[in-house]
Amino acid sequence: MKPRVLVTREVFAEVLDYLERHFDVSSNQADQPFSPDALAKALSDKDGALTVLTDRIDAGLLAKCPKLKVVCNIAVGYNNIDVKACSDAGVMATNTPGVLDDSTADFTWALILAAARRVTEAEAYVRAGEWKGWKLKQFLGADVHHATLGILGLGRIGQAVARRARGFEMNVLYHEPKRLPADVEKACGAAYVNFYELLSRADILTIHVPYSSATHHLVGAAQIAKMKPTAVLIHAARGGVVDDAALIAALRRGTIAAAGLDVFDNEPALNPDFLKLANVVMTPHIASSSTATRRNMAMLAAENLVAALTTGKPPNLLNP
Ligand code: GLV
Repeated sequence: MKPRVLVTREVFAEVLDYLERHFDVSSNQADQPFSPDALAKALSDKDGALTVLTDRIDAGLLAKCPKLKVVCNIAVGYNNIDVKACSDAGVMATNTPGVLDDSTADFTWALILAAARRVTEAEAYVRAGEWKGWKLKQFLGADVHHATLGILGLGRIGQAVARRARGFEMNVLYHEPKRLPADVEKACGAAYVNFYELLSRADILTIHVPYSSATHHLVGAAQIAKMKPTAVLIHAARGGVVDDAALIAALRRGTIAAAGLDVFDNEPALNPDFLKLANVVMTPHIASSSTATRRNMAMLAAENLVAALTTGKPPNLLNP
């Protein structure tokens, strides 16, 4: 009998074809998110699962799924999975590192340019039929070229963002809890500074750290207060790293100039006060969403699932 697996949300047809060659597959191509109880029920007789970042995998769920051997997240971030609870239950957990770095970095640049140069605000103005004539001081924005880019978190995605800054001839600074090797700094053209310097010197601050209890509201009122009043804050990492209420207060008061956000506290139920602000560009957690990259992510997760249930050695194991 083939192992039984659940695909918790809609995936590409070729991913299902690949899985069906190895497994008895139940898939949620209707794409209606499972409630926690429904997910536990659907997984109660399964050997493995292809999950997404909105599926919570914790001790409570694992206790109801005695056959489960592996959960393969279609995401690089895995804060939806309690990895320790998985290890305690003897369940492997995997993610999809590497395949989304460039697409996520490209999108970070879309947010940087859109927020600094007020692209979405100006587009809304044109669409509303409000454009009646050219003005010298219309939609004045901030230059990106030659500005100082501050990168909080110079991992794979942060590094890809840094490399793209070369074309804009920027001064690139980064902060990490631990300084990175000189060859990485050189390849990125990025100089190490402490967190305070990063906040106070950046014209554009972009965040690329994973979410965990250690990074919860890492950028809050006190940190935003250190930024320049002309600064732009970009966040395409994970909701929860920025204190959105503090950010809204800062954007309203002009403590900083603008923000570009792909992720939010408690998404998709974002703070409604964001909608009242013109100086924020918002997108629905799509930084990795190019056709090729979302396919690659789903296929890599499927490859992890096949490897886990055939050899016990998935390539992107989080809890060896
Ligand atoms: C997307 O947010 C991911 O973590 O891959």
